[in-house]
Amino acid sequence: MTDQILLVEDDPSVRTTVVSFLELEGFEVDAVSNTRDALERLHKTKYPLVISDIYIDDRTGIDVLMAAKSHQVETPVILMSARGTMETVMAATKNGAFDYLAKPFELDTLLSAVRRALDTSHEDDEDTEVEDLPESELIGSSPKMVEIYKTLSRVAPTDASVLIEGETGTGKEMVARMVHQFSQRSSYPFVPVDCSSIPAALLESELFGAMRGAFTGADRDRIGVFEAANKGTVFLDEIGEIDLGFQVKLLRFLQQREIRPVGSPREKKVDVRVVAATNRNLQKMVEEGKFREDLWFRLNVVRLELPPLRERRIDIPLLVQFFLNKYNGRYNLDAKVTESGMKALKEFMWPGNVRQLQHLMERMVILVPNGRIDAEAVHDAIESAEAKDSGGETLAETEMEQIRRVLAATGGNKSRAAQVLGIERKTLYRKLERMKG
Ligand SMILES: Nc1ncnc2c1ncn2[C@@H]1O[C@H](COP(=O)(O)OP(=O)(O)OP(=O)(O)O)[C@@H](O)[C@H]1O
Ligand SMILES: [Mg+2]
Repeated sequence: MTDQILLVEDDPSVRTTVVSFLELEGFEVDAVSNTRDALERLHKTKYPLVISDIYIDDRTGIDVLMAAKSHQVETPVILMSARGTMETVMAATKNGAFDYLAKPFELDTLLSAVRRALDTSHEDDEDTEVEDLPESELIGSSPKMVEIYKTLSRVAPTDASVLIEGETGTGKEMVARMVHQFSQRSSYPFVPVDCSSIPAALLESELFGAMRGAFTGADRDRIGVFEAANKGTVFLDEIGEIDLGFQVKLLRFLQQREIRPVGSPREKKVDVRVVAATNRNLQKMVEEGKFREDLWFRLNVVRLELPPLRERRIDIPLLVQFFLNKYNGRYNLDAKVTESGMKALKEFMWPGNVRQLQHLMERMVILVPNGRIDAEAVHDAIESAEAKDSGGETLAETEMEQIRRVLAATGGNKSRAAQVLGIERKTLYRKLERMKG
C-alpha cells in the first residue's frame, strides 16, 4: 500500500493542475496519462484513493474504477468528466464510485471530495454487476445536470418519494420517467396524472377509483390510477394545483398506502411509488397556508430541482446539436447551425426552457431558407413564435410559404404542422381556407 493518490488523466493541463494543487495541499500523487498505465499500477499497488477521468482512450474511467475495485474493493474512486450523462453517472454509481465530478470543477470541490473519500472506510458495496444501461435522451453535461444525475442515480433504485421542481419545460416529466426507468419497478406501469387538468371533484375517483353508482354517470366500477399502477410508479404532475381538501386524502394515502374507491366500504392495499412535480414553489405555498406542510414533507423525501436552461447555458450547444440531428433525421433535411446562429441561441433567455428550444429547432430545421440557421434566422423564429396566434388576419406571402413547407415536411399531417408552426389546429384550418380563397 502506497500513500500516493493515483490520478488518471489524459489532458496534460488538467493533470498538471490537479497534481500541483493536491501536492500543495500535502498529498502525494502518482499521475498517469492512459488507462494501460493505470491498470498496470492498480495491478501492482494498492492505492488509498484513485481519481480518474472518464473518457481517456480505448478504455474509460469506468474500466479503471472496475479494476481498482477488483483489486481492492474498499479503494474509493472519484471519477470526473466533462461529458457527464445519466448513463455514465449511473455506471459510476453502480460500480461503486465514491463521487463524480463534472468538469470544469472548482479545486475546492475536488479537495473536499478527496478529503471525504480518504475519511470514509467504505465497508459495503455488495453487488458490482454491470448491465447495459438503457439510453436516455436527457441531454446536458453541465455541473448542474450532473448533480441531478447523481441524485437521480442514488434515489431511483430506492422506493423514496421524489419531488421534482423546475420551471416549465425544464424536463420534469422526463426526469420522473427516469426515476421509474432506473428503478426495480421499471417493468410495471408508469402512470402520469396531470393534477391541474382534472377538476377537483373528479380527482379522487380518478386516483382512487369509484364503485358503480358512486355518483351520477358511474355506471360501472372504475379502477383508479393508484390501483392500475400497482407495483409501478404514479407521476403526480402539477401537484401544486390540488386543493386543500384533496391534500388530506393524498396524505392519508401516502401514510397508509391504502385506497378506498369512492362509494366502497373497503380499503385496498396498493404498492406504488409516488413521484410528484410542480413548477410552483411548494415551500412558499406551505408558508402561505396553501399547501399542507405534512403532505409536503411526505412528497419531499428527495427533492430534485431542475435548473432553468439559462442557468446552464454550456449545455445549449449539446441540446442544439441533439435536436438538429433529430429533426434533420425526421424530416430528411440537412439544416446547419452557423456560428452566429449558435451564439444567438446561447444568448437567448429561454423562458420556456428546453421545450421552447426544441420547438424552435424543429421549426427552424423545416423553415429556414437554405437550411442555414444563422443569428437572423434565430431572431426571426423567436419573434414570429411570439407574434403567432395574435389574430393577424392578413396572410403574408412568407407565411403562406411557411405553411406550405411545413405541410410538405409533415407529409400533409395538419396536427403536426400546427404544432410545428406553433399555432392552434383551428387557426391552421382557417389559414388554409384563406389560402384557397
Ligand atoms: N435535458 C433534456 N434533454 C433533452 N430533452 C429535454 C430535456 N429537458 C427537457 N427536454 C424536452 O423538453 C420537453 C419538455 O420536457 P418536460 O415535459 O419533461 O418538461 P416539464 O418540466 O415537465 O414542463 P412543464 O412544467 O411545462 O410540464 C420535452 O419534449 C423533453 O423531451
Ligand atoms: Mg410537465
